[in-house]
Amino acid sequence: MKIGILSAGGDCPGINATIRGVGKAAITYGMEVTGILDGFSGLLFNDYLQLDERSLSGILTLGGTILGTSREKPFKKQEGDVISDKPQLIKENYEKAGFDCIVCIGGNGTQKTAAQLSEIGLNVIGIPKTIDNDVWGTDITFGFDTAVNIATEAIDRLHSTANSHKRVMVIELMGHHAGWIALYAGLAGGGDVILIPEIPYEMDHVNEELMERSRKGKPYSIVVVAEGIKAGKKEDIPAGACIAQQIEKKTRLETRVTVPGYTLRGGTPSPLDRVIATRMGTYAASLLHKREFGRMVAIRNNEMIAVPLKEVGGKMRLVPPDYFLIKQAKRIGTCFG
Ligand code: F6P
Repeated sequence: MKIGILSAGGDCPGINATIRGVGKAAITYGMEVTGILDGFSGLLFNDYLQLDERSLSGILTLGGTILGTSREKPFKKQEGDVISDKPQLIKENYEKAGFDCIVCIGGNGTQKTAAQLSEIGLNVIGIPKTIDNDVWGTDITFGFDTAVNIATEAIDRLHSTANSHKRVMVIELMGHHAGWIALYAGLAGGGDVILIPEIPYEMDHVNEELMERSRKGKPYSIVVVAEGIKAGKKEDIPAGACIAQQIEKKTRLETRVTVPGYTLRGGTPSPLDRVIATRMGTYAASLLHKREFGRMVAIRNNEMIAVPLKEVGGKMRLVPPDYFLIKQAKRIGTCFG
């Protein structure tokens, strides 16, 4: 069999570990492995890279993706498109390249495109990838643990400077429309207030909590904000800056903002992400070997399973408002607004 592998959407640590997992396992099944460059664009322009034992060595710990990525959405008409029928061209190029299947590593947008390509007759396997941890159908995505580690390290470092200056420190974390990173890093980093898109908040509650802490003699507070909360949307200003402005204006407490941004997606994957990526990659190769296509690899109760792509495509997995961690955090006094 000849298989193609592509990575699409926002990059994250663990993609190369996944490429290595799929590729090395596929080679043991006697398959020919081709890397497709820059996400779905590579299929539009026949941009390929032959992968073998040598090129798959030494990439387990590498951040980013050796194949490059893009946010090309072939089923979405975009301004200035010069190719009239991108899906048809992809199908023709897939056949011309002689692929028996393509493995699409990506988030919910990528899995939606993978499902659509499967619908028009391509053999496709999806592998969920994103720091946001918001792909429906799997309990966890690789990239998430590394992002939580980086974000927690940042929050840990804010405590000492906040204490020295008696300040409120606001940190804004990525996560797109989901609050998973802010929730886990906020809990791990001892955030006093955690605001996530899934839980409506009132600024009066936040400000009262911060003033109460100050009245009780707490020298500082840490406020962890997911980028996807409603603050700032109307004025088109970042959530963290918007929350900080409102806090300082109402409480008169000196407030500063930190935004780690893309550092959450940078550098080497955590050990857990390397393990998740390797598990998913090798499981994807086993599906290829069994010719079980049209599925996304997933982890459910720590077991590897295959979920039909048409069930997953484009769906987001958000933090349930009654999520156990939220209840436990409230029990130790964390404010969710
Ligand atoms: O999906 C990963 C992510 O980092 C989100 O958390 C963030 O909102 C988005 O990508 C940023 O998109 P881009 O990389 O296109 O700027």
